[in-house]
Amino acid sequence: MEGFPLSLAVNGREHEFADRLVSYSGVQDAATGRPDTAPAAVAVVGLGYVGLPTVVEFRSKHIEVTGIDASSSRLDAILEGDVELAESDRALLSSELESGGIRVTTDSALLGAAEAVVICVPTPVGADDTPELSALRRACVDVAEHARAGQTVILTSTSYAGTTRDLLLGPLRERGFEVGRDIHVAFSAERIDPGNPDHRQQDTPRVVGGVTESCSKRAASVINCVTDSVFLVSSPEAAELTKLYENVFRAVTLAVANEFAEVCRELSLDPIEVTLAAGTKPYGFLGGFPGPGVGGHCIPCDPYYLLWQLRDRGSRAPLLEQVMHEIRQRPQQVVRRVDELLREHGQRSERPGVLLIGASYKVGVADLRESPALPILSGLVDAGIEVGYHDPLVPRLELPDGTELVSRQHPDEEKWDLVLIHTVHPGVDYDWVIDYPLVLDATYRFDRVPHRLLL
Ligand SMILES: NC(=O)c1ccc[n+]([C@@H]2O[C@H](COP(=O)([O-])OP(=O)(O)OC[C@H]3O[C@@H](n4cnc5c(N)ncnc54)[C@H](O)[C@@H]3O)[C@@H](O)[C@H]2O)c1
Repeated sequence: MEGFPLSLAVNGREHEFADRLVSYSGVQDAATGRPDTAPAAVAVVGLGYVGLPTVVEFRSKHIEVTGIDASSSRLDAILEGDVELAESDRALLSSELESGGIRVTTDSALLGAAEAVVICVPTPVGADDTPELSALRRACVDVAEHARAGQTVILTSTSYAGTTRDLLLGPLRERGFEVGRDIHVAFSAERIDPGNPDHRQQDTPRVVGGVTESCSKRAASVINCVTDSVFLVSSPEAAELTKLYENVFRAVTLAVANEFAEVCRELSLDPIEVTLAAGTKPYGFLGGFPGPGVGGHCIPCDPYYLLWQLRDRGSRAPLLEQVMHEIRQRPQQVVRRVDELLREHGQRSERPGVLLIGASYKVGVADLRESPALPILSGLVDAGIEVGYHDPLVPRLELPDGTELVSRQHPDEEKWDLVLIHTVHPGVDYDWVIDYPLVLDATYRFDRVPHRLLL
């Protein structure tokens, strides 16, 4: 597709393969912004960080939406409006729940009423770094059980290449459906960035890979309701691997950014200054910012889906293995640096106190999943350090050993030996930190403290 701004570090040759990129062009209704082939009713299975905004996006195109979630407490939270959505989306959700344009339920039997089903359940990794597919398996069984002829089923959870075929085709065929004729099946990964208003779903292109060509087209017409640009690939596997490649690349970038920050410290240079300067090059450089580690269910988890699949086939990706090793041990580097700074500044008393600022892994969201703050706090405790944290978005948290911590409400009135900046949320008053003599800024961005120290 000539002219589409591809994000590739290839020195101006982005369009060498332009004719290989297949874009889907649905005809959109000018008034509703909806493709003319849009389904009248969609069901979204899994109403978490990604599924719920997707429900709202479909509804904003006047499509009837049924949201299905296995957790009744999640449904209660949704009905009470206690959810992580942009203010405008929260208002739309509330009014549509009232008018019936959106309904939410735990009852998978309602799946049968939808013309299209979007599966968006969690795909974390287990303790041994293998895919934890129980939620996805369960959801696929439910979807297949209630599927009906004419439906389009789109798996959107991130997973290994082959998941859509493995988990959906068998049960659908057992029910007598011929995929591509009676029912349409495709994969199209979510690319939503929860809590980031800069990337709206509508403006974020999606990739669709169907089991057959007609599956791709049907699924693209559904996905085209929530985004303006849809690209088609030749199979669900190509679409599945596309998503893993995206997040593998993010993992590599972040690991390199962290390593480069240490290079900068060694050379007494400012890593942010150097990163920004490198970023002025209009081609060939795609950098990231360093930080205390990587959190969420994407970057710390998704690459393991690929490593697991390769291992299973007797193959390997050694560079990626090394990157994931570096990412995993980053929180311990933070712990070692805290210990080092306490010693250097004569604060390594019997039981020094360290306050961590911002426990969630991401700015502006309450999400604690895989947050580096958890292993950092645990590591500090193991090192004989007394810990506390302050995060207005995370009132309490549990460390892996079961220890419960409560967010300090008035950290400015307490005395800590070192303040560790982990995540800085917008709209929170951090001015009191400026007076602290020992501040370790693991975000590299808190330059309000002139004497801050870096990792
Ligand atoms: N969060 C992100 O930033 C992000 C971005 C892009 C892609 N993804 C991917 O999207 C998928 C969903 O992630 P999320 O962050 O929304 O997860 P989440 O944990 O926030 O929410 C998932 C929801 O699914 C529900 N659920 C679990 N099993 C179910 C089942 N069998 N039937 C119905 N509901 C079920 C849970 O109760 C929960 O409410 C994952 O594969 C993730 O990797 C996430």
